[in-house]
Amino acid sequence: MTELPSSMHAVLLKGHGGLEQLEYVEQWPLPQPGLREVLIEVGACGLNNTDVNTRTAWYSKGATEATTGAALEGAEDDDASWGGAEIRFPRIQGADVCGRVVAAGSGQGDHLIGRRVLIDTWLRDWNAPMDLDRCGYYGSECDGGYASYTKVDVRNVHPVESDLSDAELATFATSYVTAENMLNRAQVGESDSVLIPGASGGVGSALIQLAKRRGARTVALCGEAKAAAVAAIGPDAVLPRAPDDLGAALERAIGRDKVTVVADVVGGALWPRLIDALARGGRYTCAGAIAGPVVAFDLRSFYLRDLTFTGATIVPPGVFGDLVGYIERGEVKPLLAETYPLKDLVAAQEAFIAKRHVGNIVVLP
Ligand SMILES: NC(=O)c1ccc[n+]([C@@H]2O[C@H](COP(=O)([O-])OP(=O)(O)OC[C@H]3O[C@@H](n4cnc5c(N)ncnc54)[C@H](OP(=O)(O)O)[C@@H]3O)[C@@H](O)[C@H]2O)c1
Repeated sequence: MTELPSSMHAVLLKGHGGLEQLEYVEQWPLPQPGLREVLIEVGACGLNNTDVNTRTAWYSKGATEATTGAALEGAEDDDASWGGAEIRFPRIQGADVCGRVVAAGSGQGDHLIGRRVLIDTWLRDWNAPMDLDRCGYYGSECDGGYASYTKVDVRNVHPVESDLSDAELATFATSYVTAENMLNRAQVGESDSVLIPGASGGVGSALIQLAKRRGARTVALCGEAKAAAVAAIGPDAVLPRAPDDLGAALERAIGRDKVTVVADVVGGALWPRLIDALARGGRYTCAGAIAGPVVAFDLRSFYLRDLTFTGATIVPPGVFGDLVGYIERGEVKPLLAETYPLKDLVAAQEAFIAKRHVGNIVVLP
């Protein structure tokens, strides 16, 4: 049995605001695993926009701007979490953990000790696991992985057998289950052509791989400087971030000026053009709005072309297990842009917000 310390290193989010709200501490109490919980020594933890959005209170309906990483005008504390409720501080954020189980509380979990694991980030009411209204997010409604140790319910813990490093494995959880959930919600199959804005990002690069895995054609939209790196992920075509004439660009790229599916995490000013790119009966699936949540929606585009819209956030049970299978069989590849020591989380988040990277950035405790 590994001897455990009594305290750990962690980064605390002290309240809503700028990066000054993140504080690295060397002596924070070690989490104590309770009934059906395990203690995990964190090997690596991936960054996510939800860390930034929660810190800046971007989820508040009072905020209407793109994600900038700065504290926002109009945002309120009482609806500042992804779920529309208040956040308790201090909070240890960080959802995408790869680590090793080092202890188990009472109940279950002894069999996991010593295993390398990933954490399913959706916290469920295990008396009603299919009730998606009773879910929390790991690193938001409880402490997460920006620390040397973390605890979580044993039913959220997935052992993983892989040659990938901890840092590579920490690039998957949030982005890939979100992307897979979007594709499930839009029922994407091999006859589809999928347009992917923000394709250089965590969810976008996952969408390319997971849509291809289903046999669909993929068209990536990304910033010019990232086009070569995005092409290497393997989409059928790469187009600029916001082509003036998206239809003409699609025609040149795939021989048709429309797609059957738009899988979007960007929104913003480009949004009407994305909707216009959908063929009759097309599906728009959305899990983010990094370029701006408030968009110009012409209802005629929606109903006259028989479109279907699906939002995608809380992921039903089972999808995380599917993802672990794809990782273990090498059906998806990690896109690890950079690693930082945990103590430099602020610098890591600055780089994450600057968006010069492709894939994801990970911190190591
Ligand atoms: N609903 C959920 O459960 C869920 C889960 C994960 C993420 N999300 C949300 O989805 C969005 C994307 O997440 P992600 O992790 O894929 O993000 P990411 O890794 O930061 O990538 C986002 C990409 O969007 C592109 N982009 C286009 N316009 C932008 C703008 N105005 N500002 C910043 N980036 C812009 C950038 O690529 P180019 O520079 O190449 O254009 C960037 O690489 C975020 O809003 C996030 O909160 C939601």
